[in-house]
Amino acid sequence: MSQIITVHSYRGGTGKSSTAANLALLLASAGRRVALVDTDIQTPSLDVMFSDAMAPVRRSLTDYLVGRCEIEDAAYPADTDAGHGGLFLVPARNRAAGVNEIMGRGYDVGLLREGFDRLIDSLALDVLLLDTHAGFNNETVTAMASADVLVILTRADRLDLAGAGETMALAGRLGCVRMSVAVNLAPDGGVGERMRAEVESAYATKVTAVLPYAPEMASLAGERLFSTAYPHHPLVAGYRRIISEVSNGTSAIRR
Ligand SMILES: Nc1ncnc2c1ncn2[C@@H]1O[C@H](COP(=O)(O)OP(=O)(O)OP(=O)(O)O)[C@@H](O)[C@H]1O
Ligand SMILES: [Mg+2]
Repeated sequence: MSQIITVHSYRGGTGKSSTAANLALLLASAGRRVALVDTDIQTPSLDVMFSDAMAPVRRSLTDYLVGRCEIEDAAYPADTDAGHGGLFLVPARNRAAGVNEIMGRGYDVGLLREGFDRLIDSLALDVLLLDTHAGFNNETVTAMASADVLVILTRADRLDLAGAGETMALAGRLGCVRMSVAVNLAPDGGVGERMRAEVESAYATKVTAVLPYAPEMASLAGERLFSTAYPHHPLVAGYRRIISEVSNGTSAIRR
């Protein structure tokens, strides 16, 4: 029984990569076998967030897409503080190889979906988590179309909210029936909760979690993942709420 969870936001900097990384870590800590794929080839993050695991990186999603390796060759076990063995990472590309190669050569987008299925089978995954580029490029739309559950992040402002509406509309057209909306970077003072009410009435959708703005995240300077450094923080409680929402229910179970 495996599940593909895609994390998306219409605008950049909304917290997709941080959220995807922490969800992956928490799921793996709970004993699930998880692979986290950075499909954000243009502006990758996971190689930096998991810098220790990525240090010996030789292969990446880009290498697979241009035919240089199998997708399994680009999956690395993450050596996290939590010390469990059930988390794998697929970085988007090698920084040295640059983005020009894949943008110049292009690739068969069908390979991406094939690669997701292959990873699930060969690593015997419970969960495949996909981090995406903001907006709707080829990789992002494929990741959305592949999702059993789409986690949609929005900040607590109207610009972001309008974008989340576009994501929901496109995801619906792509056949993604299960979506979980979370408000991230919510300031103190009830703004996030007001936004919850607004999202719920505008889109007839329940907001799974209001994730607080956590200044501690900046002070970590990307050196450790938030849920490892602050396991009892309300932000981590919010990540856990998303997990319990998206992992429950049978409609998300693929096989
Ligand atoms: N709840 C939060 N509290 C405080 N800082 C946060 C929170 N969530 C994310 N951040 C910070 O916000 C910045 C953007 O986060 P992140 O890189 O995860 O966003 P993104 O949506 O993946 O961005 P991009 O669109 O560039 O890929 C990072 O510096 C991250 O540490
Ligand atoms: Mg990102």
